[in-house]
Amino acid sequence: MALLITNIKELLQVRDTPTEKVSGSEMATLPTLHNAWLLMQNGTITGYGTMETCPADFSGEIIDATGKTVLPTWCDSHTHLVYAGNREQEFVDRINGLSYEEIANRGGGILNSAKRLNETHEDELYEQSRKRLEEVMQLGTGAIEIKSGYGLTVEGELKMLRVIKRLRENYPVAIKATFLGAHAFPTEYKENHTAYIDLIINEMLPAIASEGLADYIDAFCETGYFSVAETERIMEAGKQYGLEAKIHVNQFTAIEGIAACVKHNALSVDHLEIVSDTDIEALKNSRTMPVALPTCSFFISIPYTPARKLLNAGLPLALATDYNPGTTPSGNMNLVVATACIKMKMTPEEAINAATINGAYAMGLSSTHGSITVGKKASVIITKPLNSFYELPYAFGSNLIDTVIINGQKI
Ligand code: NIG
Ligand code: FE
Repeated sequence: MALLITNIKELLQVRDTPTEKVSGSEMATLPTLHNAWLLMQNGTITGYGTMETCPADFSGEIIDATGKTVLPTWCDSHTHLVYAGNREQEFVDRINGLSYEEIANRGGGILNSAKRLNETHEDELYEQSRKRLEEVMQLGTGAIEIKSGYGLTVEGELKMLRVIKRLRENYPVAIKATFLGAHAFPTEYKENHTAYIDLIINEMLPAIASEGLADYIDAFCETGYFSVAETERIMEAGKQYGLEAKIHVNQFTAIEGIAACVKHNALSVDHLEIVSDTDIEALKNSRTMPVALPTCSFFISIPYTPARKLLNAGLPLALATDYNPGTTPSGNMNLVVATACIKMKMTPEEAINAATINGAYAMGLSSTHGSITVGKKASVIITKPLNSFYELPYAFGSNLIDTVIINGQKI
C-alpha cells in the first residue's frame, strides 16, 4: 500500500536526523517544509520533500493536500481510557462546591471507579474502552499510553491490562500499557498500607509479568495517597520485572517525589501542577521527561503546570490528556495543545513539539513516532485548509482535522 500526499501547504515536525526529544529553548523551533510532498509505503514514511522534487511516476493513491497542513499524529503518553461507567455526579458535586479531595474522602473518586470496574465483565469493559479509543484516533492520536489502576485487586488489574492488550491487537494505533496498582488504597487497606503494597509486589506484579501485560509501572505519589517511600518501593519492585517508572506526582502538593523518581531513573514524571525549585533542580540533566496534563487542570480547576519555568530551566516538556473518568473525561489532544497555548503560555511550536516528539519519548516511542522522519510510522494528520498552523490552537474547540492516517491506514 503506497500513499503520496502532494501540494501540502506546510508539513510540520520534519526531522531528517533522529531526534529523541527536544528541551528548553529548542522547543521553540518546529521544523517545517512549505509546498511539500510526503510518501508512505507499507505503513512507513519513505520520503518527503518540496514539490519540485515530487516523485513523477508514482502509481499508488495520491491525496492532494492543497491549502492543508500535515503533521505527525499526536502522541498521548498518559491516559486511563480503560474504565467502567463515568462519574458525572462528582462533576456536579464539584460545581456545587465540593473539592476533588472531599469527594474522594466520601468514597468517591478512584474507589468509585474501582467498584464499578470490578462489577463490569471484561467484554463490556472492552466495549466501553474501544469506543473511546476509536474517538481519540479520529481526533488524531496515533500513539497512546493506557494505565490500569481502577482494579486495585489482582483480578481487576489483570482484567484492565488484558483489555489494553486486546485493544493493541485490534487497532493500528501504538499502545503502551502501564500497571498502576498503586493508584489508591482500597478501603480495607486504609490502615495497612504495607499489606496493600505487599499485594501489589507479591501477587499483582508477578501475575502481570508472567502474561507480559505491562510496559511501565506507575504510582500516585501524593499526600493522602502513596508516600515518597511507598512510591520508591513500587518503582524498585517494577524494576525487578523490567518495568520503567512513569509516576503521577506533584498534582496537589510538592513532597520531593520528583527527586525520588529521578533517582530511580523514571522515564516520566506526570502532572506537576505544583513545582518547587528543588523539583526543577532534580530534573536537570536527567533522562526523566516532565509531562503536563492541562485539560486536567482545566476540568478540576487546579493550577496549570508552570511550563515557562520548566522550559526556562532548559528542561523538556511533554503534553498528554490524562483521559480518565474523574479529572479529565476527554481524550482530545487538540484541546490539550490549545489549552497549553492559552493557559500555560506555550507557543504553538512548543506545544506541538510537546504533543508529538516529546510525548513519544515519554512512552518510549520516539524512534518510531512523533516526527516526519524516513523510517518512522506512516501516522499523520491532514488538516482542513488553514491560514497557518497557528490556527490549530487558536480556533480551539473547532475540529480542524480532515483525515487521520495511522500506520498507513485511513481512519
Ligand atoms: O491522573 N491523580 C490520579 N489519577 C487520575 C485521576 C483518577 C480519578 O479521579 O479517577 C489523574 O488525574
Ligand atoms: Fe493520570
